[in-house]
Amino acid sequence: MRDAVWMETKIGAASKAFITAAAKLIQYNQVVGMPTETVYGLAANAFSDEAVARIFEAKGRPQDNPLIVHIENADVLGTVARDIPSQAWALAEAFWPGPLTLVLPRAPELAEAVSAGLPTVGVRVPANEAAQHLIRLSGTPLAAPSANRSGSPSPTTAQHVLADMQGRIPFILDDGPCPVGVESTVLSLTKQDGPVILRPGFVTPEDMEAVLGCPVRFAEGIDSSPAAEFIPESPGMKYRHYAPKAHVSLLEGPFEAFARFVEQKACAQKGVFALCFAEEMEMLAVPAISYGPRDDVAAQAAALFAALRALDEQGAQVVYARSPATGGVGAAVRNRLLRAAGFRVISTNDLPESTGEKNL
Ligand code: TXA
Ligand code: MG
Repeated sequence: MRDAVWMETKIGAASKAFITAAAKLIQYNQVVGMPTETVYGLAANAFSDEAVARIFEAKGRPQDNPLIVHIENADVLGTVARDIPSQAWALAEAFWPGPLTLVLPRAPELAEAVSAGLPTVGVRVPANEAAQHLIRLSGTPLAAPSANRSGSPSPTTAQHVLADMQGRIPFILDDGPCPVGVESTVLSLTKQDGPVILRPGFVTPEDMEAVLGCPVRFAEGIDSSPAAEFIPESPGMKYRHYAPKAHVSLLEGPFEAFARFVEQKACAQKGVFALCFAEEMEMLAVPAISYGPRDDVAAQAAALFAALRALDEQGAQVVYARSPATGGVGAAVRNRLLRAAGFRVISTNDLPESTGEKNL
């Protein structure tokens, strides 16, 4: 593609003037960094093949991984999806605007590449007001994947977007840190056997079961290393994702065993870091970065991706991460950490006799 290399990527606060400028760029089929309540997105006109091609190019995204379409409100859902089941309307009513993406049969007018060859489209209404304003002024639904280079942690600040996208896109709208911090829950409503979560997020199965009155299951393989022959229900499940440059492992077990293990490793090797809870920082004799308080999974979600980026900035080579509690959004935090760790899990129960390493 003949694309422009932008000499410099500009950042502007999410004011009326800059949102208007960003909407102009969208109308010229350009890509703009967009704040949402989950993570920053790379937004472009979802009906334009040229604009959507630019997203894939800026991100370095595999062509077989579809994009989420962001709409202003549920009233326009019929412009991007069709054969919309009543369950979709009930969930939209309960959770939009908010961090829930619904996978539905796609409308034929969408740019082909948005769905990456699938007959479906992922759609959500973001809760961030600047994003809503941008969609309204652009006059079109916006396709937007997370605004990281493919494979690196999702960006939760405009500075993270700039670090990955400098010179690759013209403009980033800065609305401060994203309050949720992990990407939306992705729920498919196209399966014969009921609603299926393709990616865990802030909206939990229990939240959705309460609205739908039927079971909501996790897709097979959501938290495990895909076997070669495994065909995931969502293309995104087969990519590692969220990985800092360091070699990350998740350690399960009590803090005392974690501390002993990491301190031993740090004696034997350079560049060893702990990724731990805030209260534990001062109890460790190795370099450490926190991803939030131990008993607050929502705060952990908000802090995780910035912590993964900070590990790179501080030169971590080998990282041992504490395992989060799995209630509520904890399932999403654990899912992102597992992917960052390439599904390497060490149980400190099995130590010191063996390293206890296992691959989920
Ligand atoms: O919170 C979010 O969802 C953020 C913000 C920017 O909205 N977006 C985001 O997009 O995380 P992305 O592209 O990084 O992740 C989208 C995920 C991928 O795993 C993709 O495979 C899956 O959703 N997905 C998208 N459309 C799909 C479809 N039609 N069928 C199955 N999976 C789909
Ligand atoms: Mg992503």
